[in-house]
Amino acid sequence: MVTVSLIWGIVVVVCCCLWLILGIRTRRKGEPPLENGLIPYLGCALQFGANPLKFLRANQRKHGHVFTCKLMGKYVHFITNPLSYHKVLCHGKHFDWRKFNFTTSAKVFGHRSIDPNDGHTSENINKTFIKTLQGDALDALTEAMMENLQLVMRPSALPKTKMAAWETEGMYSFCYRVMFEAGYLTFFGKDLTRQDSQRALMLRNLDNFKQFDKIFPALVAGLPIHMFKAAHYAREKLAEGLRHENLRRRNCLSDLVSLRMLLNDQLSTFDDLEKAKTHLAVLWASRANTIPATFWSLFQMIRSPEAMKAATEEVNKTLEDAGQKISFEDNFIRLNQRQLNDMPILDSIIKESLRLSSASLTIWAVKKDFTLDIEDGSFNIRKDDFIAFYPQLMHLDPEIYPDPLTFKYDRYLDENGKAKNTFYSNGVKLKYYIMPFGSGATICPGRLFAVHEMKQFLFLMLSCFELELVDSHVKCPPLDQSRAGLGVLPPLNDIEFKYKFKYL
Ligand code: HEM
Repeated sequence: MVTVSLIWGIVVVVCCCLWLILGIRTRRKGEPPLENGLIPYLGCALQFGANPLKFLRANQRKHGHVFTCKLMGKYVHFITNPLSYHKVLCHGKHFDWRKFNFTTSAKVFGHRSIDPNDGHTSENINKTFIKTLQGDALDALTEAMMENLQLVMRPSALPKTKMAAWETEGMYSFCYRVMFEAGYLTFFGKDLTRQDSQRALMLRNLDNFKQFDKIFPALVAGLPIHMFKAAHYAREKLAEGLRHENLRRRNCLSDLVSLRMLLNDQLSTFDDLEKAKTHLAVLWASRANTIPATFWSLFQMIRSPEAMKAATEEVNKTLEDAGQKISFEDNFIRLNQRQLNDMPILDSIIKESLRLSSASLTIWAVKKDFTLDIEDGSFNIRKDDFIAFYPQLMHLDPEIYPDPLTFKYDRYLDENGKAKNTFYSNGVKLKYYIMPFGSGATICPGRLFAVHEMKQFLFLMLSCFELELVDSHVKCPPLDQSRAGLGVLPPLNDIEFKYKFKYL
């Protein structure tokens, strides 16, 4: 027994020595400063995961604007100077832009790889996204969202007496419910064969989405979904509803979903459930950030009397110019793209809310050894490493944004009340000053639609409802840091608010 323990002891010591000798990278000449961390394989992952902003700021102070960290066995080069972002993007030919996103999608949603290089599909998914989320396709999508938001916000089934009374609800739950349901209907249409059970089905989808989304950070970190029984069940149920046979029963599918169904059938070797899981990935991408971003825009606006006043005036003017009236009858308010784009105050409120709440990590794989030439110097980068941006560092930089933790509704307005795009770092005008949607070839293809739907939501809230916080002095809830890196952070606690229909 003692001998067996001794042998095991020797094996462990030899492994540790081998790891120390072979597993720790040493910094070569011309490479960025290196943080290996103390834990084998994990490297700095625990400190990074606990608070990325704090961790990156500390390294920035120690090493300057460019440094390398070992995270989960990978070497990630962080570029933290916003003046260098543009130059990094000029080195795009050395990046395998989508490798990280493709791998993460397969891991989290449970389909095989959607990278055409892996041979399971030949669909150029980015081309599909751009074709169906931007340009002409954006008109139809935005129009459908406006109608669905109104269907969800003013369900005509409610008796007028109930609608005339104040309703109290958690603001985050309200935003979650409305944006999830309206977004689901906009992308995946309506099941006209089962209208009576439609609502119950939607509520089940909503619960399943919440359950699955809760463990999303754990799945991205590499934990297997089998560890989370309820969330696993929720994911499979959501995917079930998105099988092609179920989608074919639905009317008014978006161009995005119709085209993805066609291309999945023609170009992939995925089975039915895998195809459904690729649709679930689209559902997640379209809702997971929009929901908290909508909450923050509404919350920050309601909390600031000046923001409320300015936004209400802008909304009333748009409504008047469009010759439209809010009524409780069935006619929907419609706004075209020009009218939506001509609301700089709502735009500024949305940008400022995104600045304060978004914490996305943009990460690209490196295809071959190359030298990165940027403002901060020249750095040798090795094949299979990663290049990363963490724009929250810029969003909260007091030199670029004075008083960075304060919500200023007009931060993105110039002296003429038009959109402001002049922000400076070190006296130099920034090309990139707000990046909640990522950048480069992987920049969010749904960003134009996302801003439209948030604006539509705020527009309808302001024009259809009287709004009040239950506690007018309520503190701003903290951001849920467990999701840092994934996009817009939700609030850690909900905030009660009251709403009542106007014009009854
Ligand atoms: C406030 C709302 C949103 C935010 C903050 C947001 C942010 C992001 C970010 C940071 C990325 C990753 C970019 C990168 O890897 O560099 C991304 C990717 C993506 N987003 Fe959004 N997004 C939002 C809404 C939407 C909407 C409404 C859609 C509609 C379908 C959408 C579809 C996608 C897709 C498909 C990708 C993956 C792109 C790829 O890997 O090529 N997003 N988004």
